This record gives sequence, C-alpha cells and structure tokens, in this order.
Amino acid sequence: MTDEPRDPKSHTEVHRVADPESTRVATYLAQPGEVGRVLLLYSGGLDTSVMLKWIQDEYEAEVVALTVNLGQPGEDYDVVRGKAMQLGALEAHVVDAREEFAREYVLPAIKANADYGDGYPLFTALGRPLIAKLAVEYARRSGCDTIAHGCTGKGNDQVRIEGTVATLAPELKVIAPVRSWAMGRDEEIAYARKHGIPVKGGTETAPYSIDDNLWGRSSEGKWIEDLSHAPDDDVFQLVTRPEEAPDEAEVVEVEFEEGVPVALGGQRMELVPLLEASAALGIKHGVGIVDHIEDRIVGLKVRDIYEVPAAAILLTAHRELERLVGTIHQNQFKPSLDQKWAYLVYAGLWWEPLRTDIEAYVSHVNERVTGVIGLKLYKGSVRVVTRASPNAVYDAQLATFAESGGLFSQQASPGFIELWSLQSRMAHRLRNR
Ligand code: ARG
Repeated sequence: MTDEPRDPKSHTEVHRVADPESTRVATYLAQPGEVGRVLLLYSGGLDTSVMLKWIQDEYEAEVVALTVNLGQPGEDYDVVRGKAMQLGALEAHVVDAREEFAREYVLPAIKANADYGDGYPLFTALGRPLIAKLAVEYARRSGCDTIAHGCTGKGNDQVRIEGTVATLAPELKVIAPVRSWAMGRDEEIAYARKHGIPVKGGTETAPYSIDDNLWGRSSEGKWIEDLSHAPDDDVFQLVTRPEEAPDEAEVVEVEFEEGVPVALGGQRMELVPLLEASAALGIKHGVGIVDHIEDRIVGLKVRDIYEVPAAAILLTAHRELERLVGTIHQNQFKPSLDQKWAYLVYAGLWWEPLRTDIEAYVSHVNERVTGVIGLKLYKGSVRVVTRASPNAVYDAQLATFAESGGLFSQQASPGFIELWSLQSRMAHRLRNR
C-alpha cells in the first residue's frame, strides 16, 4: 500500500458544505434563532396580514408593524393600524411620508424626466427606498433586530428594499416570508381563516396585484400575463377610460421655477397638493394609461398596466420646457444621463453615488427651467400647445419667415452649408468614384 497524501482541498470542501453558514445565501438574511423582534412593512393586505401572525408563531418573535402613506388613494390608515393591533402587533405605526416622497424622490425624478423602458415613470421604484429607509428608522427606534417585507422572489421590489436595508443598516437582518414559505394563495386564505384574519373582497379568484402612490398605480397578474389579451375595463380603477372622458378638451398651464412645478392652472400650490391636483386632472381626461412590457432586474420580462395621470401631465410639461431653455448640445446630452438615472432607480440602486452625481448635473440644468407650458387634455391625450419662458433659447424675430432685420444673415447660409457638408461630400465622392 502506498501512502497516498490526502487531498487537502477536497477535504475542506466537504467540511464547508456541512457548515450551516455555507447555505446562507446572503449575510443579511436572518436565521431562525436570530429573530427576536421584527419590524414588518405592513400594507394591511392578505400577504402581510398572514405574515404578521405567521412571524409571531413561526419565530416566536414580536412584531412591530409599519405602514407608510405615500399617497395611495382611498386608503384608510386607521383601519390598517387597527387590523395590525388586532393581529397581535406589539406596536403599529403609520407614517405620512407624502411630503418627503414628493420633495426628495418625485421631484428629482421630474427634473430627470424619469422614465424606464419608454412609459414607466418609476412610482413604485421611487417609493421603495423611502419605505425601506423608514423601516430602518422605526426598527432601530423600536428595538427590532429584523425587517420583514411581503415581496416575492420574482420582482424588483425585494431588490430595492433589501438593497436599502443592507446599505443603511448592516446590523439589521431581513426575512421575506412570501419568498420562503411556499404557501399558495389558497393556503394563505386557509391560514387566514384559521387564525381569524379578515380577508377583504372575494376569495374565489386572485385579484390584480396592485401597487400605488401619488405618482402612479400599477396592476399585474390575471389576464395581464396573457400578452394577447387587450385590457379589460375593470383594471382601470384610477384613470377614467378615454372613451368615457369629457367630450370637451381642457387646456391647463403648468408653471415651473427652476425645474420645480409651482402652479397649475394659474394657481400656486405646494408640491403634494400640486401632484394630487395634476393627478385629478389627468384622471378626469383619461390620460396616463400605459400598457407596458418591462425588463425586470431579475431577468424576467413582465407586463404591467400603469395609470400615471400626474406623471403624464408633469413630465410632458417639464420635458418641453427643459428643451426650450436648453441648447441643442444640452438637449442631446441630457437624455442619456436621464436614462442612466432612471435605470439606477429602477434597478434598486437608489443609494449608489452615481445617482447623486448625475443629479448634480441635472439640478444645474434645471436652474434655468422656469416658465409656463400649456397642455391640452382630451380623451387620453396630452399635447403641448403653448410655451413661455424668460430663459427660452428662442427669438421670434430670428425664427420668423419675415425679415429678421439684419440679425440673421441669410446671405451667410450658403457659405455655412459648403463648410458644414465638406467631409460628407468628400466621403461620398470616395465611395462613388
Ligand atoms: N413593475 C414595476 C416595478 O418593478 C411595478 C411593481 C409593482 N409592485 C408590486 N409589488 N405590485 O417597479
């Protein structure tokens, strides 16, 4: 028998597989023994209500519920808080974060003309880092060691929330029961029944999966997953269907100061009321309906139905005013930065320094975005009809077909054309010798 040396590498590998730490896919995920008190991001819906009870039973942990008001229309927060307490929450907090959301999240998005994938103005993506930041604050304040959320393992929201928690609070752990518990909807309803958790609405068919705030609303699930299925009317719970919108068009003026919308229809308003008033106008005229196919961060392609009445109005006006005050070079350059900004936000990287680096440029450009844009709203369409700005790089005297009074020499144009086309003409000749 030869004395074969043992392969030290294979030995360690066997050892590593046996180590429970080696099966922990992320260091911030909580193991059962580590969970004592949980801050639960609580919406009041079925998933998070089942979670509220399930976490207490499964981990023998205490639960502090946190509900964040980002301007979801028609939500009764007293009812949500009451439900959390009834399900055994140690504390139940409701935070009105509309002002912070509007100032710190929606406003930079307006200045960056934020749009992902041609049609999605990022309302959910903008809300998640704020919700997660508040979760961290309340978790620390209430002595929690873990944050729980109701996201699935297939979406972008888990990335945005966990990315934020891991960035802002390395000491906190995360659990995501919906991702791990393997309960289907029927089992969840059975669990809810068994534990006296009220289930609102019909339980026969799964409802649309909704997320909303003051910047927009999304619907997913049901027939939306069938790409060949045109939208059923019942999905439009926010915006009036264009067919039913008023027969009379309405012109509204949006005024901006340094990129900030400050007045609507000649009436000065604070940001939150202005966003709400814009939404109300858009809702009335059926604007901001987007049927969107989206490339998610986790690789999936998914269809969403978006209703974004406020964004349809304010982004259209802002983009137009910005182009009016910018030079051709600025106007060609900024969209590439805007697109990068939108992608970082979409992709859950709100805390990435490149985002604020880009904002430094975006804010500087917006210092000149002052003026008034008139929009005509009519049965689902938003069309710019008037523009005015003290900073417009526009001179009616120069642009006119009438005589410019010596300010613009048309006699100089042929000389310009000869030089401007020089390289192109040379290249063309070479190819056609
Ligand atoms: N697809 C959009 C996004 O990723 C909307 C997601 C809505 N979230 C939800 N949990 N229903 O931002």
